[in-house]
Amino acid sequence: MRIGLLTGGGDCAGLNAAIRAAVRAGSSYGDEFVGFHHGWRGVVEDESSSLTTSDTKGILQNGGTILRTAGFHPHEHEGGVAAVMQTVERHQLDALIVIGGDGTLDSANHLAELGVPIVGIAKTIDNDVAGTGHCIGFDTAVATAVEAVDRLQTTGESHDRLMVVEVMGRTVGWLAVCTGIAGGADALCLPELPTDFDELAKAVMRHHDAGSTSSVVVVAEGALGGAFLGSPDGSAGSMVSKELAQRTGYETRLTVLGHVQRGGPPTASDRLLATRCGVSAVDAVHAHRFATLVSIGDNSAELVSLNVVSSGARPVPETLLRVARTMTAW
Ligand code: F6P
Repeated sequence: MRIGLLTGGGDCAGLNAAIRAAVRAGSSYGDEFVGFHHGWRGVVEDESSSLTTSDTKGILQNGGTILRTAGFHPHEHEGGVAAVMQTVERHQLDALIVIGGDGTLDSANHLAELGVPIVGIAKTIDNDVAGTGHCIGFDTAVATAVEAVDRLQTTGESHDRLMVVEVMGRTVGWLAVCTGIAGGADALCLPELPTDFDELAKAVMRHHDAGSTSSVVVVAEGALGGAFLGSPDGSAGSMVSKELAQRTGYETRLTVLGHVQRGGPPTASDRLLATRCGVSAVDAVHAHRFATLVSIGDNSAELVSLNVVSSGARPVPETLLRVARTMTAW
C-alpha cells in the first residue's frame, strides 16, 4: 500500500519513534511511505518526500519530528480541503496516518468524514485527546517537569524561598496534577478549579508553621480561568507568584518551564507508547479500518471512531484529582 504520514500541531517527544515504528511496520507489509512536511500544510501544498526505513534509522531516541510540524487546518484555508484530496490522488495514497493533538486530529476527522482514508495517532504533552488513555509526549513532559521541581525543591530549601513553577496546560491540568503529585509539590493551581489566593497563602503559611522553610507551588498556564493565556500582562504563574509573595511575605521566585517540556529525548514509556501506536496504525490501514484513532490502554491497543476527538478535551479523572487534593493544597 502507499501510505502518507504527517505530524501536526505542537511537537513533543516520541513523534520520531512513532514515525519509525509506522515505517518499519509498513516495510514488513511491503508498503511505501510519503512523509508530508509541516503537518497538514505539507499535504495542502504537497511539500513531501519519500520515507524509507533508512530515513528512520537512529531517530527512536530523538526529540522533535523529522517531518517538521505546524498548526495548520485545511478547512480554514480556501481550497485547502480540495488540495488535500488532490494530493492524496496525485500520490495515489491508500491511506494517511495523522499524528497530532486535538486540532490536527479534528481536521483529520473532517477529512475522514469526506472520505479521506485516515488513521489517527494521539500526541500532546497536554494528554487531553479524547478516546485514548495515553498521548505520546506526556510522560516525557511530566518527567522533565518533575526533574525541574526536584531541582527547585533544593534551591528553594537553601534560600527559604517560595518557589512557583508554571507548567503548560491550557484547559486541563494533566501535566500540573501529575507533576505536582510526582514532584511532591505543596500546592497546585489548575484550570479545573478557581484559585483562592487567600486560602492558598494560608495553606503555604501553615506548611511553613509546621516546620518547612520553603514550598513549591505548581501552576498550570491555564489556571486562574485562563485569564493570562497569551496575555502581555504576565502569566498565571507570575500572578500566583505576586499574590502569594504579597500575602505571605515570603521571598518568592517564579520558573516558567515553557517549551523545555516539549523538547529533548522521549522517556522509555513514550518510546514504547509511540512504537505501539505506529505499529497499530499500520495494522489498522491494512485492516481498512479508516476514520479511526489508535486508542491505547494499559494492556490494549484498540481502534475507536475518529470523531471522538471532536467531543472535547479528556478531563483529569476525579480519582487522580482526589490524590492531588490529598497530597497538596489548592
Ligand atoms: O498543545 C500543546 C502545547 O504545548 C500547550 O500545552 C501549550 O499551551 C501550547 O502547545 C504552546 O504552543 P506554542 O508552541 O504554539 O507556543
